[in-house]
Amino acid sequence: MSFTTIEPAPLRLNRSELAVPGSRTGLFEKAARSAADIVLLDLEDAVAPDQKEQARRNVIAALNDIDWSGRAVSVRVNGLDTPYMYRDVVDVVEQAGAKLDLIMIPKVGSAADVYALDLLVTQIEQAKGYRRRIGFELIIETALGMANIEAIAAASRRVESLHFGSADFAASTGARTTQIGGANPGYAVLTDPDGNGRRERHWGDMWHAALSRLVVAARAYGKRPVDGPFGDFGDEAGFQAAAGRAAALGCDGKWAIHPSQIAPANAAFTPTATEVARARAILAAMEQAQREGKGAVAFEGKMIDIASIRQAQTLVGKADGIARAGR
Ligand code: COA
Ligand code: MG
Repeated sequence: MSFTTIEPAPLRLNRSELAVPGSRTGLFEKAARSAADIVLLDLEDAVAPDQKEQARRNVIAALNDIDWSGRAVSVRVNGLDTPYMYRDVVDVVEQAGAKLDLIMIPKVGSAADVYALDLLVTQIEQAKGYRRRIGFELIIETALGMANIEAIAAASRRVESLHFGSADFAASTGARTTQIGGANPGYAVLTDPDGNGRRERHWGDMWHAALSRLVVAARAYGKRPVDGPFGDFGDEAGFQAAAGRAAALGCDGKWAIHPSQIAPANAAFTPTATEVARARAILAAMEQAQREGKGAVAFEGKMIDIASIRQAQTLVGKADGIARAGR
């Protein structure tokens, strides 16, 4: 390990994060009773400009009046380049900050953006005497944000997680897609002809490099990497595949933009009983190996060594955290 120690973000389940437009009050109770680990009340892009102020009032009332126990609740404020952001933060935190776990900041471009919000929230927390520190969830969804991602991740102790927003990221980078997440037939490789002249077209994952970069930046600074929305909520298999890829890369969770995506997200980011049993067997095998003075041994015909202990512990740690939360 490096001599540099990194303070990890507070432990929090983030397998599914259900987005709810702040203007659709009829969805709030349903969200509060859902199985989502985090409910995200949105004031930004799911709310039309003429609804911004009413949505803010709705969200404040919902934080105060609805029973959110058993899950975390977050509010996505408008971007720093809009005239809404300061009042989103001031009104929501002043009037309902004691009920709020997280603030999500969209389109973060630099560490200074995080610093600015940290200053504002710190002032309000102190003035109101809140004891619990509100955490930050940051969406990386612009070219600038991705270019500055390491500094952004390290910008404040409040930062708990980095989220990948594919739609805005595509718009910002000039990518040729109008989809929100998912596969893109334009991003494919054509194999050379085989002996019979046949060629195959293999779809790639156009989000891979960006998501992978986000996972590394988040983990380097002790934050949770979280994959963003998958817009085609009728495509359950497509969602499962996207969530599975994110889980394989190291993400803690994925957004749900519809209730039908909550259960698949929770499943995708919960290690299976078989995986956990295998990880525990690896730990037992390595304990035995170390008692025998060996660092590397064969397990099910394959080499495992001391790095395998860390891999297995990561997996068992995730499963234990979920079990501790009673989920
Ligand atoms: N949270 C809680 N409940 C929701 C929900 C949500 N985000 N989206 C839908 N529901 C409920 C509906 O009220 C409905 O409930 P009912 O069976 O009791 O009537 C049920 O789930 C099925 O909804 P459905 O009719 O399939 O969806 P819709 O056409 O009403 O809405 C969307 C579809 C995509 C517009 C809606 O799901 C939505 O607004 N999602 C969130 C968008 C968002 O926040 N985007 C910003 C982040 S990317
Ligand atoms: Mg966005």
